[in-house]
Amino acid sequence: MDQPRRVEHQMTDKGYVPVYTTAVVDQPWASYSAEEHRTWATLFERQMALLPGRACDEFFAGLSELGMSPHSIPKFSELNEILRAKTGWTLIAVEGLLPELDFFTHLANRRFPVTWWIRKPEQIDYISEPDLFHDLFGHVPLLMLPIFADYMQAYGEGGLKAARYGNEPLTELTRLYWYTVEFGLLNTAQGLRIYGSGIVSSKSESLYSLESTAPNRIGFDLKRVMRTRYRIDTFQKTYFVIDSFEQLFRATVDPDFGPIYYELKGAEAFPAGDVLDGDRVFQSGSGEGWPVDGDV
Ligand code: PHE
Ligand code: FE
Repeated sequence: MDQPRRVEHQMTDKGYVPVYTTAVVDQPWASYSAEEHRTWATLFERQMALLPGRACDEFFAGLSELGMSPHSIPKFSELNEILRAKTGWTLIAVEGLLPELDFFTHLANRRFPVTWWIRKPEQIDYISEPDLFHDLFGHVPLLMLPIFADYMQAYGEGGLKAARYGNEPLTELTRLYWYTVEFGLLNTAQGLRIYGSGIVSSKSESLYSLESTAPNRIGFDLKRVMRTRYRIDTFQKTYFVIDSFEQLFRATVDPDFGPIYYELKGAEAFPAGDVLDGDRVFQSGSGEGWPVDGDV
């Protein structure tokens, strides 16, 4: 496999990460080695053994409608036919994390950037940047759910708008993405379920997010989330729980964030692990094993 082309390292909202070329490429499917297909299969099977009863129904529905399987790394062109017909989204292959404005522009146009390369066998349990498995297995199934597909497009538009308001709004919007799209939990009649892509693509966090007594689990509240710092290097100290995708949509897509950004101007951010008055607490975490600092 050709190594992805790294341009430079840069401090971003995801930490100090390599920034790749912004080019949209063709997924070089024929170049995947047998070992890389095996890595996909291993990760896929491992998560499928863990996620029943833990991930939400909507995730499984999307995954199976897309026909993803451990057999081989999916072809984006085949997924795209199904995705376009259902919610109008298109996967585009990229080298890795994109500059924020490019990312927002793609989302606003219902294009989801997917890193085309997969982690090395020695990175099976942990990789610090998104790869094919995280982007595809983690994010794409919910793009088959119309309300979530609409949320993601609106988020892209919201990002372009936040960028015009400045850095603080961008930070607040990024926290919203982090605590929903990446690390969100859903309250169901059967109990809490995972929908966040950063959790479903991680073996250890799939268990930790739901079963550990260490983290807080707190009901979703827009401004609370927008003010809450997060961790990029460890499990989350707090997970926010939505009651439904409809609730998430109404709380985020419907309101104009302009006045909210104005209201939050200069407001102090909350540490990642705090429980506050007024929180709807599902679990107040024991905090066991938490590092003292490193919130971003
Ligand atoms: N409604 C937000 C705004 O007016 C945009 C948005 C949509 C933000 C969806 C997040 C998620 O800026
Ligand atoms: Fe992600």
